[in-house]
Amino acid sequence: MSDIKLTQQDYIERENKYGAHNYHPLPVVLSRGQGVYVWDVNGKKYYDFLSAYSAVNQGHCHPKIIEALTQQASKLTLTSRAFYNDVLGEFEEYITRYFGYDKVLPMNTGAEADETALKLCRKWGYTKKGIADNQAKIIVCEGNFHGRTITIISMSTDPDSYKGFGPYTPGFQVVPYNDITALEEALCDPNVAGFLVEPIQGEAGVYVPDEGYLKKAYDLCKANNVLFIADEVQTGIARTGKMLACDHEGVRPDILILGKAVSGGVFPVSGVLADDDIMLCIKPGEHGSTFGGNPLACKVAIAALQVIKDEKLEENAARLGEIFREELRKIPSDMIELVRGKGLLNAVVIKPKNGKTAWDVCMCMKENGLLAKPTHGHIIRFAPPLIITEKQLHEALSIIKKSFAEFD
Ligand SMILES: Cc1ncc(COP(=O)(O)O)c(C=O)c1O
Repeated sequence: MSDIKLTQQDYIERENKYGAHNYHPLPVVLSRGQGVYVWDVNGKKYYDFLSAYSAVNQGHCHPKIIEALTQQASKLTLTSRAFYNDVLGEFEEYITRYFGYDKVLPMNTGAEADETALKLCRKWGYTKKGIADNQAKIIVCEGNFHGRTITIISMSTDPDSYKGFGPYTPGFQVVPYNDITALEEALCDPNVAGFLVEPIQGEAGVYVPDEGYLKKAYDLCKANNVLFIADEVQTGIARTGKMLACDHEGVRPDILILGKAVSGGVFPVSGVLADDDIMLCIKPGEHGSTFGGNPLACKVAIAALQVIKDEKLEENAARLGEIFREELRKIPSDMIELVRGKGLLNAVVIKPKNGKTAWDVCMCMKENGLLAKPTHGHIIRFAPPLIITEKQLHEALSIIKKSFAEFD
């Protein structure tokens, strides 16, 4: 079927007819992206304030990343890890120096990187900490989001994630997020091998823990010979105004999980970083992925990480994040209950009004030229590409203000 005469509704109906119904998108059909903007099939332009859940930190179709992709695409795309290739080592050296770790284990998606970290932590627990076979526990936080695999949803406290998908993987203990006392108690169990935490809970609605929480949690882990594992899939790569959200508290995770913006949203690239005493617990044949560390991914990731440094996106996110929250807090709408966030990872908690919810606000912003998506029904996440300029940010803010005013 030719797409020439399709309307937005036709595209939506086709997806509904042939695709699984595992998402509930806003009714907009996008066909192009450049920088902070995306365009729908009718040519209407929008600010992208979701950035593919913080994968497009470098902006859509960044020319340097696309150049790396196209150059490598015509040379060598995949060898599998059955052989060496001339790009993987370059990427491994680049990313380990970039983040200051001995080694990296490359994967593709965030969930795979989380799974990798869990396996690595358990293996370390058995081989280094001396936990008895099959007894290792990993502490996780209430409200966590680490992806969608069976093991990962086994740690979830969100019924939408886990309900109807049991039986679940054992070996996890949930503690409340941002609760040091609860963590301290849980860490008394000698079978605990790791503590897995998002430095800011993104999917849960951009929950920022109290200042000092991560540092205290890290220190407690050290005191109990437990690995501190940070899932920075969403918060990493400059999103919160530092390269890693853990950097705000000077914490260096024992295991660092990265995904999303490692490739600037161009290609699925994820990875786990750790030092030798942890990473070398996994031996040949014990873990892997056909596509993990493929040459295309490696070149794309090097380019994407270099853009973050070259364009000083950490600084931009930190500076513009302050302005953004300050301006959001000035919006005189009784639908805005709370504004929170760090850098350019922000959220507004919405109080429904006359039956109008966060979804209606997002629909209104869409009409006015800005795309954002509600999470958990009542929270709108605002996460533009980090290349956004101050002028663009103010223009986007005026769209947000105008949209809230329409509900007065
Ligand atoms: C903190 C965190 N970890 C892991 C994931 C899973 O990443 P992916 O969807 O690439 O599997 C996400 C996705 O939103 C995330 O926010």
